Amino acid sequence: MTTISTAATDRATHYAPIAVFLHWVLAILIIGMIGLGWYMMSIEHEPGSGWYFDLHKSIGIVTAVLILLRAAWRLGHTPDPLPFSVPPWQAAGSRAIHWLLYVAMIAMPLVGVIGAMLSKSGVVFFGRTLPRLFTPNHDFAEIFFTAHSVIAWVLVGLISLHVLAAVKHLVIDKDGVFQRMWFGGHPG
Ligand code: HEM
Ligand code: HEM
Repeated sequence: MTTISTAATDRATHYAPIAVFLHWVLAILIIGMIGLGWYMMSIEHEPGSGWYFDLHKSIGIVTAVLILLRAAWRLGHTPDPLPFSVPPWQAAGSRAIHWLLYVAMIAMPLVGVIGAMLSKSGVVFFGRTLPRLFTPNHDFAEIFFTAHSVIAWVLVGLISLHVLAAVKHLVIDKDGVFQRMWFGGHPG
């Protein structure tokens, strides 16, 4: 369990095992979903592409449930502060990027589900068609799908900055910040 504290610290502490587990499962799922989304769009008009769309929707719903679990867990658990060696502007930047990552992570599947419910094909979950909450409307569906593809790019930008920062801590700073989100550490 992480300590709830606002004071900076002189040692690198650790995220709780459940936070680390969900972080890495979701990192793989979200990056995979972006790749799958772009791939299926590139074969959209080819026969058999429907299978990829259904897979994207199905894995997308599983991803959404894990994102909500993670966000709910996070609301009740404040991570340990970063070590003193991290300059205040970088600590503030990291908080802002993490917050934006949560917003984009939650918005992405939400907008996808609403778009799919407004589209002719609806939401499919591993072979089952889920009930619709809206009457299909092509123009509204397009608005949500445009938002879905814009948020994908926002996520790519945020993830790139986030990964660059993480790798800088691991390779250049060597300050234990990367290890806070790695497996096997002890919560601080
Ligand atoms: C974190 C979760 C998700 C990510 C990262 C993601 C990512 C993407 C990406 C990158 C595209 C291609 C966008 C483009 O190039 O226009 C896409 C398209 C799409 N996604 Fe998702 N998606 C997620 C969740 C969902 C969910 C939950 C659904 C619905 C149940 C969904 C339904 C769709 C549909 C229907 C399209 C095609 C849109 C079109 O025809 O213009 N997505 N997604
Ligand atoms: C694959 C490369 C990735 C690496 C190397 C990485 C690394 C890290 C590290 C080291 C931390 C801890 C930062 C700290 O100590 O304060 C962290 C936190 C975080 N990461 Fe990642 N990450 C990756 C991918 C992602 C992805 C794809 C997402 C979401 C789209 C994500 C979302 C987050 C969030 C929201 C936090 C803050 C956790 C919190 O305070 O609740 N990460 N990441």
